[in-house]
Amino acid sequence: MSRPVIVCVDDEIAVLDSLRRELSEAFEDHCEIETALGGKDAIALVQDLVEDHCDLSVIIADYLMPDIKGDEVLHQVHQLSPQTLKIMLTGQANVDGISNAINTAQLYHYIAKPWQPEDLQLTVREALNSYQQEQKILEYQQNLERKVQERTQELTQTLNTLKTTQAELIQAEKMAALGQLVAGVAHEINTPVGNALLAASVLNNETDSLTQVYDQGALKRSTLTSYLQTAQDSSDLILQNLQGAAALIQNFKQVAVDQTSHEQREFEIIPYIESVLTNLEPKLKQTCHTVAVTGDAALKTISYPGALSQIVTNLVMNSLLHAYEPGQAGYLRFEVTQHRDRIIIEYSDDGCGIPTEYQQKIFEPFFTTGRDQGGSGLGLHIVHNLVTQTLEGILRCESEVALGTRFILDLPLTLVGERAYARG
Ligand SMILES: Nc1ncnc2c1ncn2[C@@H]1O[C@H](COP(=O)(O)OP(=O)(O)OP(=O)(O)O)[C@@H](O)[C@H]1O
Ligand SMILES: [Mg+2]
Repeated sequence: MSRPVIVCVDDEIAVLDSLRRELSEAFEDHCEIETALGGKDAIALVQDLVEDHCDLSVIIADYLMPDIKGDEVLHQVHQLSPQTLKIMLTGQANVDGISNAINTAQLYHYIAKPWQPEDLQLTVREALNSYQQEQKILEYQQNLERKVQERTQELTQTLNTLKTTQAELIQAEKMAALGQLVAGVAHEINTPVGNALLAASVLNNETDSLTQVYDQGALKRSTLTSYLQTAQDSSDLILQNLQGAAALIQNFKQVAVDQTSHEQREFEIIPYIESVLTNLEPKLKQTCHTVAVTGDAALKTISYPGALSQIVTNLVMNSLLHAYEPGQAGYLRFEVTQHRDRIIIEYSDDGCGIPTEYQQKIFEPFFTTGRDQGGSGLGLHIVHNLVTQTLEGILRCESEVALGTRFILDLPLTLVGERAYARG
């Protein structure tokens, strides 16, 4: 860093000389001492020093000068170099000039003329010290600000990285779920397709044998009867297994394919649920259950009726399949209520309930306790996707063993995105 500069300003050369001499005695070895003859000179000198980035620590200016008065000089110096400490020399007790300089140039000190060299040296020494302290504080502040800025930048970067990582993780999770689903579907489909293949090859062999016997003209009635029985059994098996495989593929499509392909419209919720239940009537008729739908029948929503239909079907079918013993009479209920801009649909049964350890898993694909009855474990997974993605709602399950199960669907009354899209 350059050496501190002390500037002396007076309109008398003799005064400037004595100032230079006295200051040199005390500060020559670590300061530059510059002089200016009059106010204009002083301002020009200060301008040069500022442009050259010199360390202008102290300026001592006479008050009474013919071109510009000391207080005005210091005021202008203050504009150019605010951190410089200003000292005024005054020959007379000129209170106005001093107070002016205090107000407009933050005057550090004033020295009365004639001065004692020791007084001058002491005042300048203190000024230099004080200037250095100020500079240190300033430097410290700038350092601190720079560090804060650097840290903020680092933190912003970290935050951005975190956000990207989070998005990537979510994406990876989705892909993993899809991968799991594909693997699961492949595994699930293997059994019915394998069975169908076995039955088909049995049918094929039997048909070959029958053709041979027939060609030889040795076909007996009993052989034909036995063949027909095998053909019937095999085709039943093929049909049953291929239907199972087709259902699995259908379910898989529902999960994997974009679900927004369903149509969206305004409809009355309760009549709509009732119509879905009517479709389930053939199944319900085989049981002794009572089904109720309660709530304001006029309540309307703008949503995807197709999705709601799948949800209702899955929930009711689950109660029929999993909640009751054969012949047991249950009470199944849909309660629909509106809370401001939300629709709450609560579906409950009073069946066997779901053990706590299973409650975490029921929405996972392929979790089922009914595999031997043909359950694939995709039903509630689909319901969960439909509620949270297609209908943009929240799905919860509360269940207690021996008391029953309740699914709570918290849905937006209106799907805003699609409405905005339709308007725009
Ligand atoms: N109302 C209910 N009462 C008791 N258990 C239930 C009920 N609903 C679901 N469960 C349990 O949650 C499991 C998962 O249900 P989910 O609908 O996903 O599969 P699933 O019904 O077994 O097969 P799928 O629906 O694919 O044919 C069921 O196997 C059953 O154990
Ligand atoms: Mg199910």
